Amino acid sequence: MSRIILKDKRAIDRMRTAGQLLASIFQEIPSLLVVGMTTADLDALVEARMRKLNLEPSCIGYGSYRHATCISVNDGVIHGVPSERVVLKDGDCVKLDVVGAYRGYCADMARTYTLGACPQEVPAMMEIAQKALDAGIALVRPGCKLGDISACIQRVVESAGYGVVKAYAGHGIGRNFHEEPEVPNYGKAGTGITLLPGMALAIEPMITQFKADVFVDEDGWTVRTVDCGLAVHVEDTIVVSESGVEVLTRLP
Ligand code: CO
Repeated sequence: MSRIILKDKRAIDRMRTAGQLLASIFQEIPSLLVVGMTTADLDALVEARMRKLNLEPSCIGYGSYRHATCISVNDGVIHGVPSERVVLKDGDCVKLDVVGAYRGYCADMARTYTLGACPQEVPAMMEIAQKALDAGIALVRPGCKLGDISACIQRVVESAGYGVVKAYAGHGIGRNFHEEPEVPNYGKAGTGITLLPGMALAIEPMITQFKADVFVDEDGWTVRTVDCGLAVHVEDTIVVSESGVEVLTRLP
């Protein structure tokens, strides 16, 4: 039995507002990122903007998590904990992941940024991750199978020679930022649930330079590549519409 919660117009309107406000904050990130700042500094800048926009930082209070954002650097894939001890340096690959709620409804978004002269592999990985996300989103419409999206993301990533992380997945989203269904970044076309109007999903390919194996750091949160290869993460929140898809976390 499916426990997928379909969103009505009121819910989607709130999620859209959350997504648009989040996207407006992400638009500012390139101008905020500077060598020498800490990931705690970046977290504080994002949290201040969220509060000003009435966007509730949903990650705060998620289990023992106490920060508005996740910031994962280089071999960090996801769930990086903002820290005064992590100083951003020239060449870093920085992944920012934020969940914001507007009047009780969430949007979840992530993007990857580079600082100064990053390894030349990073722009290529960023292009493939974005391409995988875009191609997955492009398939979304009522009647599409969840596995179609998963398989598409996997194909784009692996055919470019990168690893696709299997230990973590995208997810349904709404009042809670983790709802059913799980949205894996690998799978078989034609399998899985059938998408219906009102389903809201966070789609989030996590790709690795070499092997896709990951582990949780001793901080209990940060997910890193086992082989210390670089990782790139991008995420958008979408809703299945009557005619196709609406991406809530992109500005028009
Ligand atoms: Co997510």
